[in-house]
Amino acid sequence: MSKRVGILTAGGDSPGLNAAIRGVGKSAQGHYGMQMIGFQGGFRGLMENRSTRLDGNILSGILTRGGTILGTSRDKPHRMLVDGIMQDMTETIVKNYHKNQLDVLICLGGGGTQKNALHLKQQGLNIITLPKTIDNDVARTDTTFGFDTALGIATEAIDRLHSTAHSHHRIIVVEIMGHRAGWLALGAGIAGGADVILLPEIPYDIDHVAEAIRQRVKHGKPFSIVAVAEGARSLEQAALIQAAEARRLNAIDKKEQKKAKKQLKSLEAHHSGIHTVQLSEQLELLTGLESRVTILGHVQRGGAPSAADRLLATRLGSACADLIAAETYGVMVASEGEHAVAVPLEEVAGRKKLVPLDHPWIISAKRVGTSLGD
Ligand code: F6P
Repeated sequence: MSKRVGILTAGGDSPGLNAAIRGVGKSAQGHYGMQMIGFQGGFRGLMENRSTRLDGNILSGILTRGGTILGTSRDKPHRMLVDGIMQDMTETIVKNYHKNQLDVLICLGGGGTQKNALHLKQQGLNIITLPKTIDNDVARTDTTFGFDTALGIATEAIDRLHSTAHSHHRIIVVEIMGHRAGWLALGAGIAGGADVILLPEIPYDIDHVAEAIRQRVKHGKPFSIVAVAEGARSLEQAALIQAAEARRLNAIDKKEQKKAKKQLKSLEAHHSGIHTVQLSEQLELLTGLESRVTILGHVQRGGAPSAADRLLATRLGSACADLIAAETYGVMVASEGEHAVAVPLEEVAGRKKLVPLDHPWIISAKRVGTSLGD
């Protein structure tokens, strides 16, 4: 009997999701004769049993489209707002998996989705995941689809900001997404020739940043582009976060743990938008140059996927169909060089791939004279 394959997209949307749905769907149906059922709106769609058959023309013409034809949400199976109450909906999800007579559920998503997928695997479901996110922070895969497109968008933005920074003799602080990882800011910063790049992995010293900008002025370059990752933090902020983290780990009871978690959340809330504006104000004060802020935000997640993301998504999608045929479940389809490999979800979930401090990108950035604020 032909296999019944469920598929959903979860977490933030990302360019390349449709290419991946098409990659899995066309290979599973066309090559293996399987049936594809898409669930709408991430794990919530599976919980509410909102599904659509992915056959006929539905998979055609979507390779180049941004977003996801299935829709997405950040809902977690074990923590979902239903009727105004946060509830564990795992049981309903497991029931609906069986009700749809699925042989496997394919989950396309980033770090959070990998965790949720492992949770469902532990309930006895057959699961395969694909790594998607513009942040490139999923463990055990070389890269994730969405990253290359966002990298291109952020780089182009820095290119455009250069000419205006130059004309006005200004500092422009450009905030780049990436959650708690610096891949996107580092990659776009290097490719766009940013003068300062600030990453979550390297807490910065504001005086060093200001000095780097002043040195540029001294050398006849009275403008600077500062590419700041949304998760970047100063030395002082990093110390506060570290202390809150230690408090959470050493909490003697649930109440203390809750308090520490709340504090951590509020500290991290300052890590986008507000933090970038404050950084810009501080730099203006310390350098005497005028400074402006550009927050790229969701522009980085929008639009058509790049050629590299289409290729990656198609490659991983078709490899996923091979794994379904071989009944290799409980894994993420990872990219390793030119190959797709199956990595157990236990090795992916709950781990974040941050930029290693000795990464060639970091070394090259320093060699070409970019300040990393350290
Ligand atoms: O994970 C992708 C990402 O775009 C991060 O870079 C960013 O921190 C987050 O999602 C934004 O999430 P939302 O779209 O839910 O605001």
